[in-house]
Amino acid sequence: MNGNDIRERFLTFFQRHDHIIAASSSLVPRNDPTLLFTNAGMNQFKGAFLGEERPLWPRVVSAQKCVRAGGKHNDLENVGRTARHHTFFEMLGNFSFADYFKERAIPLAWEFVTQDLALPVERLLVTVYASDDEAYEIWHTVVGLPKEKIIRIDSNDNFWSMGPVGPCGPCSEIFYDHGPHIAGGPPGSADADGDRFVEIWNLVFMQFDRRADGSMMPLPQPCIDTGAGLERLTAILQGKSNNFDTDLFQPLIRETARLAAVDAEHGEHMVSLRVVADHMRAISFLIADGVLPSNEGRGYVLRRIMRRAMRHGRMLGLTEPFLVHLVPVICQMMGNFYPELTAQSKVLVPVIENEERRFAATLDSGLKILEEAVARLPAAGQLDGLTLFTLYDTYGFPIDLTADIVRDRGIDLDMDGFNQLMAEQRQRARAAWVGSGDEKVAAVFHQLREQVGASEFLGYETEQAQGVIQAIVVNGVAVERLQVGEEGMVIVNQTPFYAESGGQVGDSGMLRKQSGESALFAVRDTRKPVSDLLAHYGALQEGMLQVGDPVLMQVDGARRQSIRLHHSATHLLHHALRQVVGDHVKQAGSLVGPQRLRFDFTHFSALSAEALAEVERQCNAAILANVAQSTLIMTPAAAVAAGAVALFGEKYGDEVRVVQIGSSMELCGGTHVERSGDIGLLRIVSEGAVAAGVRRIEAVCGALARESYREESMVLREAAGMLKSRPDQVTQAVERLLERIRTLEGSLEKAKAAVAGSVLDGLVAQSRMVAGVRLLAARVVGVEVRDLREMVDRLKERFGSAVIVLGMSEGEKVSVIAGVTTDLHVRFKAGELIGFVAGRVGGKGGGRPDMAMGGGSRPEQLAEALAAVAEWMEEKAA
Ligand code: ALA
Repeated sequence: MNGNDIRERFLTFFQRHDHIIAASSSLVPRNDPTLLFTNAGMNQFKGAFLGEERPLWPRVVSAQKCVRAGGKHNDLENVGRTARHHTFFEMLGNFSFADYFKERAIPLAWEFVTQDLALPVERLLVTVYASDDEAYEIWHTVVGLPKEKIIRIDSNDNFWSMGPVGPCGPCSEIFYDHGPHIAGGPPGSADADGDRFVEIWNLVFMQFDRRADGSMMPLPQPCIDTGAGLERLTAILQGKSNNFDTDLFQPLIRETARLAAVDAEHGEHMVSLRVVADHMRAISFLIADGVLPSNEGRGYVLRRIMRRAMRHGRMLGLTEPFLVHLVPVICQMMGNFYPELTAQSKVLVPVIENEERRFAATLDSGLKILEEAVARLPAAGQLDGLTLFTLYDTYGFPIDLTADIVRDRGIDLDMDGFNQLMAEQRQRARAAWVGSGDEKVAAVFHQLREQVGASEFLGYETEQAQGVIQAIVVNGVAVERLQVGEEGMVIVNQTPFYAESGGQVGDSGMLRKQSGESALFAVRDTRKPVSDLLAHYGALQEGMLQVGDPVLMQVDGARRQSIRLHHSATHLLHHALRQVVGDHVKQAGSLVGPQRLRFDFTHFSALSAEALAEVERQCNAAILANVAQSTLIMTPAAAVAAGAVALFGEKYGDEVRVVQIGSSMELCGGTHVERSGDIGLLRIVSEGAVAAGVRRIEAVCGALARESYREESMVLREAAGMLKSRPDQVTQAVERLLERIRTLEGSLEKAKAAVAGSVLDGLVAQSRMVAGVRLLAARVVGVEVRDLREMVDRLKERFGSAVIVLGMSEGEKVSVIAGVTTDLHVRFKAGELIGFVAGRVGGKGGGRPDMAMGGGSRPEQLAEALAAVAEWMEEKAA
């Protein structure tokens, strides 16, 4: 049985037992500020466990993509070192939402393992949470396991939680014994960490919701969440004691070994081959779910995984990009069950190759620096913070990469020093950083959400509505009333205000108290602190507002209309891009505001001017066609079947809105124009790169587009006026102007040369003989100081043999220069001469015997100083 068969068998087993098959959710969890990556099959059902969402069906089964790298569940460091840890793995799980509980979950799991998979019973043993007598009894009496096969575990190992907050409960695990030839002890024993006894399935009896304050709230109904690692099951069924020896990894390992020309089955390269195979799976699935390597958050975890894989590639002797050559292998292996892999291979290839090339540039130099630093250390020494920081900051070595490289050499890292340098750098960057503060906010609002329920959005139909204030929050604390001048958030049972989401900015406007004394709350922005709680952010300008007050809510209509047309235009733009650039164009972020739209998409090169013009033309053709916009509500599956463009990783509810404008069709919760003609006009104002493989287009629409054309044409007309030309002939006029400037510059050069020549002639005429030597001591005017040297050189050439002193003044400032031809150096030195002259104009100077400069501050004495040069020469000559 290969890995794909086992997955299939699991899903159909539970399907036979009345479960419906749910697709894996994205690795990027939505609506959960506490979770970095999807780390368990239950994540997508968190709301159903907590009783906040109605489940699709009371019994569900899934094969879920998981990444455990960063966050509560982090296996990154163990990868390659054990037989069973992975950054990416698939979790097979069955779920019951207030349907069956332990009494059914345990026998179902046993039936699957011992009958469908036919695992030998004598190899299996189980654990239960120490105090869970109920589970113990079911295993013993219902399933019939002997007591020595049921181990009570009194630790967190048998209490499972999703993260610091969220659903949790005691669990019971099924273990497989690979046999005494593998090192390791049974669960609960001192050497339980060995590879002999492997946990293959975890059955969680969900009973509590762990809150941020540590308290445990009982769930409305007990539920079942289970998780079986596909990789481990596959290893057992394929008779392997190491997951990497199964067909879920082998094709990747073999291809890497082939590229590196190393042995895939034995020897020193095994660890690196395994790390590469493991990391390649995480890399491919993360990118396919829209994560791109970056220096923050999820993107940084991806980058760390990629760089670690590349470093292991180096250890295999691979110096050229190689991960990129594994893309077809992984698509071939897993693309059938996870079609997003194949669909995104156009993005995978360039993103991976780009990151490989980028890091290749610094990897070798970084490794060299690291090795040198290590070589300088005494045995069991500590690597200093500055080296760690330099490796991180200049060479792109994530700290865990450095740690990984030196781990086995008994070297310690000066993390305090590193953190100090990082803190200093962060300090520098802090000014520019704005945190979302999501988590803190979520706690307050989750509570409010429970108390007051969801707010209903009325804004598709209306911009004005009445409602009752449900809650007021000031500085993260729920309060009863808001006083004049205070800033806060107001939650109303229903609202026409659109809360920022899907790239569309939140509405602004006014809330007015409807009875009693007047009160006026200016809404600056509207957001969703938790999924269906709509909060109006703003300040109370008049009166007093309190919970329970009825209010009239009025959206700023002109602003909303401008947002609407920019949003509809974004759909037209997205569609046109797919037509012109290709189907691989995938939305990678968008911002729809009243002033402009911004659309980020995956594509690997700049768009040509022609392509951009064509995109713009198609958008405007759709606008001119003035087609009606229609919104349909359907199930996500039906929407996608109808050809609507859905965003990868976006979590959609039971029902979705499908917005159709002409041939564009998208799943979208935003607000839109009635007819495409309302957009009026679309003008692309910029196109550029925002990150590797991501381009950004900005455009303006409607009156703003017209205004932007008008402003430009005004500038053009003004320029034409100045050029005494017409707008359509401005380029010719500018060309003529440039030509004229070139001609004039030529003539100017000539004229300057002629003037310089005649100035020199005039100076030559002023020279005379003193002590048998030609002397020129003259004042010059109309010359720049920086030209004096050149003049002296020219005069030396003209005279052949001479002493030259030139002086000039500008205001109070006197500049003097002296030059002496080489033949006269024995008698006269320019340096000395300039000292003499400068001294007489109240300054000083000096220099070499052939050329020296000086300055002074008494212009009235310059003439006399120059005249005195003759005497100086005579004295020297005597
Ligand atoms: N959610 C449980 C786990 O991840 C099944 O182990």
